[in-house]
Formats: sequence, structure tokens, C-alpha cells
Amino acid sequence: MADSADSIERSLATLRATFRSRFEGAATEQALRDENAKLLGPKGELKGILKQMGSVPADQRKAVGEGVNALKQEVETAFEARLQALARAARDAELDAPPFDLTLPARLPAPLGHAHPISKVRDEIVDVLVSLGFAVHDGPEVEVPANNFEKLGFPPDHPATDMQDTFWANQGHLLRTHTSNIQIRAMTTHPPPMAFIAPGVVYRRDDDATHSPMFHQIECFLVDRNVTMANLRGVLSEFAERFFGAGTPVRLRPSYFPFVEPGAEVDVGCPFCKQPDGTRAGCSVCKRTGWIEILGCGLIHPVVFESCGIDPEQWTGFAFGMGVERVGMIKYGIPDVRLLFENDPRFLAQF
Ligand code: PHE
Repeated sequence: MADSADSIERSLATLRATFRSRFEGAATEQALRDENAKLLGPKGELKGILKQMGSVPADQRKAVGEGVNALKQEVETAFEARLQALARAARDAELDAPPFDLTLPARLPAPLGHAHPISKVRDEIVDVLVSLGFAVHDGPEVEVPANNFEKLGFPPDHPATDMQDTFWANQGHLLRTHTSNIQIRAMTTHPPPMAFIAPGVVYRRDDDATHSPMFHQIECFLVDRNVTMANLRGVLSEFAERFFGAGTPVRLRPSYFPFVEPGAEVDVGCPFCKQPDGTRAGCSVCKRTGWIEILGCGLIHPVVFESCGIDPEQWTGFAFGMGVERVGMIKYGIPDVRLLFENDPRFLAQF
């Protein structure tokens, strides 16, 4: 009878010596569970050993039984530990793997987006002027009144400064009403000569089919010696040719802005009623005149140079400022400025 106790002890010793490496050898959770069932399951090896208990002498059963239970606990603990280790390894592998398969083929047709028409028109204008030698100058939309008005020659009580026309912000700041503030900023910080453009957003208390309270302008200005209206006109003609198309005529009409002298408004030949021979028939868009106004311009006023610390006896310059929406509406035949801000996909998809 003592033999069966010995045989149990030997079997237990063999199991104890091998179960850990059997668990380690299981590479997947399923393999581990299978191995565990072989050891502890209803038909497992430990059950097989227990079956021999009947032939163990009564006085030894307690000790042998304790040995079996102790081993069972060791196996269970090792099983749980190995289960956790496998789960951790699987999670680590997932985290270390690339987030998605970069080699998968694309799903086409993809819904590709594109630049907003305002951005497109702005970029077209910028490209033309950069190709003529102007560099882009940036500046703030929230401005002090001096840079938007006074230093540009507006008297303090000018109607443009009125609450009806200008959005006033806290602490006497305003939302710039034009990009001409960049003339002041550039000329104050940059020694002449210079040739800049300043694309940006401007704000006015205006809201109808041709005016939006927020819109885009591009300022263009050049400071050098002996700059004349002829230089300004040359740049404007070149711009019209390159932006609206070859043969687009330009005309200047005298006008007034406090920061230029002389000042003018610029019209281009109406693109909508252009005839094959280059003349304009007149249409509803140009109100039968054959001309459409696109911008304001002039030679930079001496008071502007003085407010920026530049000697007007030595330096001269021209400036013009155009509305991006306005020239975009003309170039692409858009009848209402609000179409550009409503962002209806049926409209945007046409660009
Ligand atoms: N700042 C003027 C406007 O917003 C346009 C302009 C710019 C006129 C430069 C002359 C010279 O109407």
C-alpha cells in the first residue's frame, strides 16, 4: 500500500517539474486552456492521480491529499499568470503595430474637397501681383484707429469712422475697414523703397446683394523715387491682362480717398458683353456702359508718408486696393455676393 503513496508522490513530482514549461510552451490562449484542461480537467492528469487515492493507506491519505491540493493550487496560479502574460503580449503587439494598413488600396472615387472660390480668387490675384515683383505683407484685423484712419489722412470726425460704418471693439480698437492699415504698418517699419501686397479680411457695416459685412481685400503699394501715375497705370493694365484675360482695357476716373493724391477709381472693360472685335456691347451687369469698377487707387499722399516718418520730398509711391469678392464676381459671373458666404455645396462645386 505504501507503494501507491510513493507512486502518487512520484507522479506529483513529475507534474510539478514540468507544468510550468508546458504552460510556457502554449503560444495562444486556446493552447494554454487546452494544456490546463489536460492537467486539471475532469479527465486530466491530476484527476488520474487522485483516482489512485483509494489504494493509499488511510493514515497517509491526509498528507498525500494535501500534496495534491498544493500542486493543484500551484498549477492554477501559474495558469492565471500565463493567461495574463499572453493577454498583455497580444495588447503590446496591437499597440506596436502600425495604426492602419498603409498599403491598402484607396477607395475611389474619394469625395475630394477644393479651395473655396474666395481663396481661389485671392490666390489668383496674389499670383499675378507676385509675378510683377510684389511681396506679401501680413497684418492684424483688429487695429488701432490711428493705423486705419488718422495716419491715412482721415480727419477725426470723418463719416467713415462712424458707428454706422465701422465695427468698434473694446478699448477703442476697431475691426479694420480696409487693408490700407498695412501701408501704415509697412512704411513705419520698413525703409523705402518697397513693393508690397497685403491680402486680408476687412469689416464694414454693410449687408446687401453686393456688400457683405466681412469681405476680403488686397492692398498693393509701391514706394520708390519718381513714381508717377504712369507707373500705377502700367501695373493696373498688366494686372487686368493677366487676371481677366488678354486685351482687357483699363480706365481711370478721378475720385477721392484721403490717403492718395491724385486719386482714381479703376474700371475694366466688361467681360460679359465683350464682342469678337474687342468692343463692348453694353449689358445689364455693366449698366450698358461697357465698364465695371474694380478698385480704388492713387499716388500716396504726402501726409501718409509724413505719418510714417518717410520724407515726401524724396519718396513717392502708388497704392491701390481691390475687393476680392468683387473681382471674383466679375471674373466668374457671380450675381450675388452672399452666394460666396452661404457655402451651399451646389454653388461651391462649380469652382
Ligand atoms: N482703401 C480703399 C477702400 O477700401 C481702397 C484704396 C486703396 C484706395 C489704396 C486708394 C488707394 O475703399
